[in-house]
Amino acid sequence: MTNNKRIVDLRSDTVTLPTHNMRKAMSEAELGDEAYGDDPNINKIEELSAELSGKEAGLLVSSGTMGNLLGALINCQRGDQMIVGHRAHCYIGEMGGASAHGGVIFRLVDSDERGMIDLDQVFELLNPKDEPQPKTGLVEIENTHGSTGGRVLTKSDILKVSQLAHDHEVPVHIDGARIFNATVALDTSLSDLVETVDTVTFCLSKGLAAPFGSMLCGKQEDIDRARLIKKSLGGGLRQAGVMAAAGVVALNEMVDRLVEDHHNASKLAVGLAQIPGVTLNPEDVETNQVYFNVNSGDQPKLLNELENNGVRGLILDEGWRFVTHYGITEEDIDWALPVINTTFKKFI
Ligand SMILES: Cc1ncc(COP(=O)(O)O)c(C=O)c1O
Repeated sequence: MTNNKRIVDLRSDTVTLPTHNMRKAMSEAELGDEAYGDDPNINKIEELSAELSGKEAGLLVSSGTMGNLLGALINCQRGDQMIVGHRAHCYIGEMGGASAHGGVIFRLVDSDERGMIDLDQVFELLNPKDEPQPKTGLVEIENTHGSTGGRVLTKSDILKVSQLAHDHEVPVHIDGARIFNATVALDTSLSDLVETVDTVTFCLSKGLAAPFGSMLCGKQEDIDRARLIKKSLGGGLRQAGVMAAAGVVALNEMVDRLVEDHHNASKLAVGLAQIPGVTLNPEDVETNQVYFNVNSGDQPKLLNELENNGVRGLILDEGWRFVTHYGITEEDIDWALPVINTTFKKFI
């Protein structure tokens, strides 16, 4: 028996499914062995990503986690430190990979409600008073910043970080898992936004809806090194052009439409703010993520009840989270809001 119950899945943009054009591109993809440089779609997506990011070269990797890990490993030796915000995904959400695989020490600095790192604290770490200190190999920032609700760092924010780090000959990496949400929100291009950083990772999955993959872009020599380390991590691919083909469609067709997700998130936020017991400021919603608090005793029970009624979300350390994406229409938001309202009323 099929279950036709309506589900509006707002847990994450990682739940997106490939589009018709992606599935077609995948089924028709000409394939070859990546290791010999023979896979046309992998070559294509690496060239396209380099061009879009304004960097010399691009590398297809399996995930954002692997892209960020490579960003750390190409810049840090064992025992080096990398400076990151205290709520950075690479620190809280990537299984400590840089430490586990590279012996890198995470040095945390405060990040504000937008995810911008505290430059005075970075300065202190770059100018250690006590010698000897671990060498700083990298400063990493995140855009959009996940745990602050998909907030956006501007080009000027990024420039400030880059100038400070580069003055100390330390490279900067951006975890841009959702950087196209930032470029769309800022109405700018990727190459413009990341002009002053050394390396950037961005995801083809998540909001761009491809089923697989992320890109790491940077200078040719850095990417050449990253390619070797990727292999050592077991990330060497063979005929992964079947996946890269979907990624090419993602980059060509799925970036501009992110504006719809932002519109839907904003509408959702305005609606949620009117529900008694819900706290959020709709103006904090800059992209596709809506974080809020609910004044209710048994939050997991409420979440479960909401899911039974057809709306899925998540409760994280920061509070409740709904994320809009390609699988969510404006009509879904119009349907979900009264469901949320009615469900919450019983608990608040
Ligand atoms: C900000 C951020 N960076 C990196 C990642 C890691 O990406 P992946 O799940 O592809 O490893 C995520 C995953 O959601 C993320 O939100």
